[in-house]
Amino acid sequence: MAGRSGADRPVLGLVASAGGGVERWFRTGLAEPLARRGWRLAITLTPTAARWLEPELPALAAVTDLPVRWRSRLPSEPKPHPVPDAFVFAPATLNSLAKLALGIGDNQALTALGEALGRRAPMVVLVQVGAEQSRHPAFAGHLAVLRDAGVRLVEGGPGAVMAEPALVAPFAAFDKSDLN
Ligand SMILES: Cc1cc2nc3c(=O)[nH]c(=O)nc-3n(C[C@H](O)[C@H](O)[C@H](O)COP(=O)(O)O)c2cc1C
Repeated sequence: MAGRSGADRPVLGLVASAGGGVERWFRTGLAEPLARRGWRLAITLTPTAARWLEPELPALAAVTDLPVRWRSRLPSEPKPHPVPDAFVFAPATLNSLAKLALGIGDNQALTALGEALGRRAPMVVLVQVGAEQSRHPAFAGHLAVLRDAGVRLVEGGPGAVMAEPALVAPFAAFDKSDLN
């Protein structure tokens, strides 16, 4: 993202829930490449994802100048993150995807996502559910709610996400040389 540095960069809310593999690819496959493209990352994890990523947390914290969050703040504390310009929610479990569609904000990750959905912030969601999970009778309806709210739903791995933030947030000028 030529010509932008520090706090001037667009902020990407990067949210992860506890889908299998996140502990292996979240930092190297998603956070670091997105930061290299010029996004200032506001990372928030579900409590379960934070547990899975515990050994990764120091390295993850080094990717961004903003604190990595998984707990809600006290009312007396200032907001640790600025309001992001766009969001990537990857991976999205059946559980967290259902909560987002229903407006349930019972942890900091879902609170941030729910607010973002309310203001129709650009949002990319990497749906990661198994075959049986996808046949849950409410699943298709939850996807439809998100799609109708303008959310870009993708499947696959972190690689499927990488080009999407630039598409949903075209106000950010990306360095195309780093699209690999
Ligand atoms: C090894 C492992 C892999 C999992 N992979 C997935 C997955 O890919 N998708 C999913 O929806 N749930 C998966 N789950 C179940 C979720 O982790 C579980 O529903 C959890 O409560 C989700 O919490 P969260 O949505 O708050 O992060 C997995 C569980 C384990 C133990």
